[in-house]
Amino acid sequence: MKTLAILISGQGSNMASLARACLEERWPARVGAVISNREDAAGLALARELGLPVHVLPHAGFDGREAFDAALARQLDALGADLVVLAGFMRILTDGFVHRLEGRLVNIHPSLLPVFPGLGTHARALAAGVRVHGATVHLVTPTLDHGPILAQAAVPVLDGDDAARLAARVLRAEHRLYPTAVRWLVEGRVRVRDGRAEVEGVDAAQRLLWEATA
Ligand code: GAR
Repeated sequence: MKTLAILISGQGSNMASLARACLEERWPARVGAVISNREDAAGLALARELGLPVHVLPHAGFDGREAFDAALARQLDALGADLVVLAGFMRILTDGFVHRLEGRLVNIHPSLLPVFPGLGTHARALAAGVRVHGATVHLVTPTLDHGPILAQAAVPVLDGDDAARLAARVLRAEHRLYPTAVRWLVEGRVRVRDGRAEVEGVDAAQRLLWEATA
């Protein structure tokens, strides 16, 4: 039985989809804690409703990134976290923190990486005129929004889309994509070779989710 720690900063909808899938699909895992760096994260109430243990570690109380990441690492050690799942956790992590968790730290980003790393991805996708946008689940490396890709969701850009409408459709795809990919990690199927992720028993088609146009 693996212990997952889910890190959030906001509404926590990905956290909820992961926690529900873990329970309903009977993963060999449990959510040991939901940790937020913000006291006002709406996802904290959602986590409590789901009966998950909640911890708040406000980054404002720390003198710099190193100190915050050290406290976070101590908390994760105390929980015995096997896998650390970033679910809308809006903090840049230090290289030391990332290295310590190599292969056990996973993120979801709302674009088809390597395009549009960073913030404001939906508006940037619309401004660039791309026809396909989406989301990526990847193992975390010290470079922001970079690392071996486990799975991607392709979401078409529709006539009349604005950033909010596109974001909502991408988020819906994220709720299917993230549990699928995290489950592969829980099941120990993921290997990294030459910077690319291989997933045992899973073919290329299963690693690309297509969101319907409707
Ligand atoms: C999601 O769209 C996630 O991909 C994004 O924040 C949102 C969190 O929503 N993450 C990032 O931008 C990280 N770079 P949620 O709190 O409802 O899961």
